[in-house]
Amino acid sequence: MAKELKNRSALNPATRIATAARPYAEHGAVNPAVYRASTITYPDVATLHTRNQDYTYGRKGTPTSRAFETAVAELEGGHDCKAAPSGLAAITAALLSFLKAGDHLLMVDTVYWPARQLCDTLIKGLGIETTYYDPLIGGGIKSLMRPNTRVVYCESPGSQTMEVQDVPAIAAAAHGHGAIVILDNTWGAGHYFKAFAMGCDVSIQAATKYIVGHSDAMLGTVTCNEATWGQFKEAYETMGLFAGPDDMYLALRGLRTLDVRLERHMRSAIAVAEWLRGRPEVETVLHPALSNAPGHSLWKRDFTGSCGLFSVVLKPTAENAVAAMLDGLELFSMGYSWGGFESLVIPFKPHRTATTWTGGAPCLRLHIGLEHPDDLIADLHSGFRRMAAST
Ligand SMILES: Cc1ncc(COP(=O)(O)O)c(C=O)c1O
Repeated sequence: MAKELKNRSALNPATRIATAARPYAEHGAVNPAVYRASTITYPDVATLHTRNQDYTYGRKGTPTSRAFETAVAELEGGHDCKAAPSGLAAITAALLSFLKAGDHLLMVDTVYWPARQLCDTLIKGLGIETTYYDPLIGGGIKSLMRPNTRVVYCESPGSQTMEVQDVPAIAAAAHGHGAIVILDNTWGAGHYFKAFAMGCDVSIQAATKYIVGHSDAMLGTVTCNEATWGQFKEAYETMGLFAGPDDMYLALRGLRTLDVRLERHMRSAIAVAEWLRGRPEVETVLHPALSNAPGHSLWKRDFTGSCGLFSVVLKPTAENAVAAMLDGLELFSMGYSWGGFESLVIPFKPHRTATTWTGGAPCLRLHIGLEHPDDLIADLHSGFRRMAAST
């Protein structure tokens, strides 16, 4: 086993990412092996009965899964972590672990749409009521708390329209009423937003995005503080969840370069966002690091960086003209994902029920990959020319 560094908490985040979970690597390697294990054997009957060994069954954990989960828990600043087969599975596992029939859930109105679908179907069917709330409500969430409110769920910035939430104020109100706070921390990637320092109890990531970082694996993570870990771990194991060893290995490999990748995504996205802000075709740029964005001052207070994902609202334009712009892009592909090395764009219509979107249309979400921003800007520039030609 590689030796553990002393006093890890004094190290810079980039150093911790590079060195996390090293003791799981063996024989002088710096990466753990990929354990494809179902059966785990026991040396004798006494151990078989007590299960007093580090690994007991494939689904209960292997050195590969523990290396990945330990590294994510350290990244997030949480107590411990479990991996799930996708980001959505991580969201489902977390909600089902902390909610039961008769409970009330406060869910942010700008949540990733499939999570809304989950609440409106399966979770509703279990007798759990969901109330959607304004992402910018802050401490005002107090007024929505009920005696049976068990979970307040945040996603910051909000999906597509990028509203930054006042997570510490929401957490203070939730805790005052005995509820826990679960955050979808995929945008901050656990690196630029420290969920636990901001008062969250559980931090979820679609590791599919920046942790994997190369668009070649689906994975989710649920990281808990000490108080919530026991309940979550028990429910996770009861549900029979686990993730594929090769995917966890790829994710751990991606995690090692998270700091440098995110820094490049951040710089390039800001360059493209600023260029877009100066374009006559653009009404608003929804990028939390830009001064006119909703929640910008909260982003400045609570985040230490930004990633490659942001949105723009165009001035009113015919749908066929927007399609002409998007169809001819060469470097931006269209796809419902983000967090990889490639640039992506999708048109979207904000979907919400507790609030009304007044920000205009048409809206585009962009993911700025690791291509050079000058080339991306040139691609978008040609797109605007096509848009003008077909108006
Ligand atoms: C904010 C956010 N959370 C969760 C998910 C779900 O992740 P997965 O696609 O791995 O299920 C996504 C996917 O796009 C997302 O954007």
